[in-house]
Amino acid sequence: MTQVNPNYLQIENNYLFSKISKEKEKYINKHKKNDLIDLSIGDVTLPLSKSCIAGINKASLLLSDSKTFTGYPPSSGHDFLKEQIIKNDYINLNIQKDEIFIGDSSKSDISNILDIFKENITVALQDPVYPVYVDSNILRGNKIIYIDNLDTFLPCNEKIDIIYICSPNNPTGNVIKKDTLKKYIDYAIENNCLIFFDSAYEAFIQDENTVHSIYEVENSKKVAIEFRSYSKTAGFTPIRLSYTIVPKEINLNLSNSLTVSLNFLFKRMKDTKYNGPSFLSEYAIYNTYITNSKKELKDNINYYLENTKLLNDFFKTRNMSTTSNINSPYVWIKCNMPSWDYFYYLLENYMILGTPGIGFGKSGEGYFRFTGFSSRENTLEAIKRLEKIKPT
Ligand code: MLT
Repeated sequence: MTQVNPNYLQIENNYLFSKISKEKEKYINKHKKNDLIDLSIGDVTLPLSKSCIAGINKASLLLSDSKTFTGYPPSSGHDFLKEQIIKNDYINLNIQKDEIFIGDSSKSDISNILDIFKENITVALQDPVYPVYVDSNILRGNKIIYIDNLDTFLPCNEKIDIIYICSPNNPTGNVIKKDTLKKYIDYAIENNCLIFFDSAYEAFIQDENTVHSIYEVENSKKVAIEFRSYSKTAGFTPIRLSYTIVPKEINLNLSNSLTVSLNFLFKRMKDTKYNGPSFLSEYAIYNTYITNSKKELKDNINYYLENTKLLNDFFKTRNMSTTSNINSPYVWIKCNMPSWDYFYYLLENYMILGTPGIGFGKSGEGYFRFTGFSSRENTLEAIKRLEKIKPT
């Protein structure tokens, strides 16, 4: 029989959010009703914006006419959208069209990019951390070093090949300061390593001094790849779109002291594994840029941020909140018991689903994550239920 890749046996049997959805299903089957409020996976609930819908409609018309029909897109997406990304998201940051790779999800780009590097490299991840970084590195047989706190800068003597930074952070909601980021960039340049900067939640940043893109920091193009997603920014979880920036300045060493461009290899990987993003999704986002509909998207983000604030304010009254600054759609609380115990306690007694902190890594034990992506009504109802818990 064909042999299995043994690394597949090293990851958890269930992906964190699959496990939670199985528990949800079990609860509904057992109680024969769904009175749950789901604040677990970060998934949008507001409908698509008018400008996105108009873009999809326009794209359908273009595809329905033989004069404007287009087939396969380029594997890195169409220039019409890349031009808008540069004009709107990277003002004065000198990003070129051929450094932008439009895709269907950051999750797949941030995992698939690992194919380009040799196996058994060493990566540094924050703990707690988005589980996709962990699983995708285990699958490559890579060694993972965990950093508890990004502000206590990399205390490591080992050679690190890739450092992952997620800011605003999933799950904690923390943001990295510009001067700390600069230290990581200097370190990466000096030590020949790369930085993967996941800024999927940049649209939720409230502090004016927080960087939205790593390219705001000097010299970052020499070492940093940035991942962005429209899932949360434009409510695109059902139709998918994202992009990854791979600067042309980044070169990887070959054993014969020559170098090869990472941008070239990333394009090569995309050409082989991917046939490009959906024209409808690209056109929907393109339409939000050209019709200047940012406000419409921003209103949705503010709605989710307000839910997040309501939850966080409640947990502040119980001294369980871990932050006073909301820069992400997540609330990360100290739950004062093992996090899976808290999960079942809330589920069985208050019909609320959240995400156990331990699912994001060892340092998440005793913590719990809620999302602000629910409706206002459900968020308020969840708080009403939580208020019934006696303060300890
Ligand atoms: C989350 O809840 O952490 C996210 O929705 C997961 C994701 O974006 O893949």
